[in-house]
Amino acid sequence: MDNRPIGVFDSGAGGLTAVRQLQRLMPHESIIYFGDTGRVPYGTRSPEIITQYAKQDIRFLLSKDVKFILAACGTVSSILPATFTQTLPVPYVGVVQAACTAAVAATRNGRIGVIATPATIRSDSYRQQIQSILPDAQVFTKSCPMFVPLVENGYVGADDPITTAIAQEYLEPIRQLEVDTLILGCTHYPLIAHIIGKVMGPGVTLIDAGREAAVRTQQLLEQQGRLAQRESGSTEYYVSDTGESFDAAVQLFVGPHSTEKATQIAIENF
Ligand code: DGL
Repeated sequence: MDNRPIGVFDSGAGGLTAVRQLQRLMPHESIIYFGDTGRVPYGTRSPEIITQYAKQDIRFLLSKDVKFILAACGTVSSILPATFTQTLPVPYVGVVQAACTAAVAATRNGRIGVIATPATIRSDSYRQQIQSILPDAQVFTKSCPMFVPLVENGYVGADDPITTAIAQEYLEPIRQLEVDTLILGCTHYPLIAHIIGKVMGPGVTLIDAGREAAVRTQQLLEQQGRLAQRESGSTEYYVSDTGESFDAAVQLFVGPHSTEKATQIAIENF
């Protein structure tokens, strides 16, 4: 039993989709969330800068005495080297491995699509991970840089015409390749999964990378006998810039029951 909080971080608000999943799966756990709202987006930056930022984010979480770190950010999960994460004093999980394991389990024809930020797609992390599990898999990737700003700006309605048009533009080539499984390899994409699903068609299974990583987190804590034991956990939010939009994002990504306000910290000091 370990009642210390789980640390979750992301380049901004998108990782809150993983928080929602953690809260659903493990209501007894407390969560410390850090969103690097002052430096978002990561997905269009170089591997060196992404690594530097992610290390600071992790040092902040460790200063809060977390028992486990979940990198909810697809970009960080793709870039941060295992040589670093394996040296951390607490277990660390990113979204790539969990999502790929789920995609391999879901595919019937071995044709898997991956959509994510430009930095994630350039890193080739998802393809390498999928083919390390299923060497014969055919992996088709596509970066979708417009999806993050669309979600951030609230273009998430069921039939939003702008997001639908852009989704058709991005996804039609992948759809034509007859993938039967599509990994949503970026924090923000679950919020437009209904639109992505409609464009891809009913025969395609969508894999929510954040959800799969939350499930993996639960499995590992269970295996290690380190689940919390208490009535119910709490969630604290920290950000590097207090735009008014973060608290609104908590309502959008986590749910209207979340009334906690985010605290600003100076991430460059970590
Ligand atoms: N959190 C990022 C990811 O999942 C998306 C936003 C960004 O580019 O920073 O890749």
